[in-house]
Amino acid sequence: MKFFIDTANLEQIKEAVQLGIIDGVTTNPSLMAKENIKGIDNIYQHYKEICEIVDGPVSAEVISLDYEGMIEEGEKLAKLHPNIVVKVPITADGLKAIRYFTDNGIKTNCTLIFSAGQALLAAKCGATYVSPFVGRLDDISHDGVDLIRQIVDIYSNYGFQTQILAASVRHPMHIIECAEAGADVATCPLSSMLALLNHPLTDNGLKQFLKDYENSQK
Ligand code: G3P
Repeated sequence: MKFFIDTANLEQIKEAVQLGIIDGVTTNPSLMAKENIKGIDNIYQHYKEICEIVDGPVSAEVISLDYEGMIEEGEKLAKLHPNIVVKVPITADGLKAIRYFTDNGIKTNCTLIFSAGQALLAAKCGATYVSPFVGRLDDISHDGVDLIRQIVDIYSNYGFQTQILAASVRHPMHIIECAEAGADVATCPLSSMLALLNHPLTDNGLKQFLKDYENSQK
């Protein structure tokens, strides 16, 4: 399972890279806004900086809603760095754009996926990744991980190559459950990944080892 970090914060991306657990980065317009980056030139520069830190796919989302705008933006984004993946929303224009990018060798991440049908359409257009939003489904009392299971089944029935990128993953159990369900990638904040580390028996065991070592040296 690949781990992508879901942030545009450079410090957190650097920290995750140092931990050695990061395979890529996902961003969205809300995450970019959180970093207070203003103006398209600064936004593009920020994507380049992310690409310099991480040796792996970096999702950069288009803002346009129409096909022509998506193509223009996506081509500019793709030229920023070879690791850029153009993130496109699941709409009719989005599907057309994904088909165009696929046919022109540009990697895509089809975002805002909330149903198996949407995931099927994205795969038909050759999306590199599909991003079902696990946490946002849980927010409205639907089982987000169930959607991952459904998509895993459908893709494996037909051998679709589109990778399932579990998004809106917000806590360690989401990561574990998405791994059990067979998601190819989980993208989440650094805090959720770090939470996987925690176990009281590890803390107790470590404390005891150190205590025994100190006593043996007296
Ligand atoms: O990148 C999209 C996704 O991960 C958003 O997560 O927590 O805002 O639902 P969240």
